[in-house]
Amino acid sequence: MDNGDAPATPAPPKIDTGKAHSARVYNYILGGKDHYPVDVEAAHALLEAWPKLATSMRINRATMRRIAGWLAAEAGVRQFLDIGTGLPAAPNLHEVVQEIAPESRVVYVDNDPIVLAHARALLTSSPEGRTAYIDADMGVPEKVLGAPELRETFDLSQPIGVTVIAMLQFVEDARSLVRELTAVLPSGSYLALTTATADLTPDEVTTMAEEYTRRGVPMYLRTRAEVEELFTGLEMVDPGVVPMNRWRPEPDDTTSDDDVNMYAGVGRVP
Ligand SMILES: C[S@@+](CC[C@H](N)C(=O)[O-])C[C@H]1O[C@@H](n2cnc3c(N)ncnc32)[C@H](O)[C@@H]1O
Repeated sequence: MDNGDAPATPAPPKIDTGKAHSARVYNYILGGKDHYPVDVEAAHALLEAWPKLATSMRINRATMRRIAGWLAAEAGVRQFLDIGTGLPAAPNLHEVVQEIAPESRVVYVDNDPIVLAHARALLTSSPEGRTAYIDADMGVPEKVLGAPELRETFDLSQPIGVTVIAMLQFVEDARSLVRELTAVLPSGSYLALTTATADLTPDEVTTMAEEYTRRGVPMYLRTRAEVEELFTGLEMVDPGVVPMNRWRPEPDDTTSDDDVNMYAGVGRVP
């Protein structure tokens, strides 16, 4: 942990390989290569508790693509703040929105050193747009909101689409975090999120969350009412807070509610 006697070369990211990390567990389950044995072990324990976790994670990525696409195409958002980005997984959010509006600017935020180590793959902006990465803990929102990368990338007088996808289940006081974030957003901005619940498959998902928590990644499950409360003061976009597979699904969608353990919702800052 201590870098006190580090040599003159830049310190490598401090990757803790002794404890599972959500970004790496997620990467393993989605078929990526950036994980350690401790993450693989945790992933298998989670899948044993709830075998549909892999399906739900894939649906979560698809939901991110639909929400980001809607923000760019329908809501006209051109600035995106993506909090809890995770390891790069194509298509990343900037690829989704820049395909619709190449001038879009995207700032990514994560606090995991392994995500930082792979951030270059997130910084491949279209020539007309821009991407930036902030290595910060959202537990301290001022650090993100005051970061030079954010101020240099965004016009803070214009709407910002804040996406918090599959991240708030790792935050105990999500209400305060969201309140602090939305308080500084200009009118016409959006808050979009997916977050975990046990409402849809109570026993399995509760056991899975207990397993994750026991392995050092506390997971906070929320009821629909608790997720709706995160949008207090915002105007809900149709269809409101719904199981994420039902957030503006593709016409050929065949998923069912027990395939997912997350709600999705989008709210507009009045
Ligand atoms: C399950 S991944 C979700 C990745 C991506 N948003 C997606 O849905 O595909 C959760 C991410 O949130 C990040 N995260 C968790 N707590 C955080 C915090 N307090 N500040 C910043 N990032 C955090 C983790 O490092 C991880 O990369």
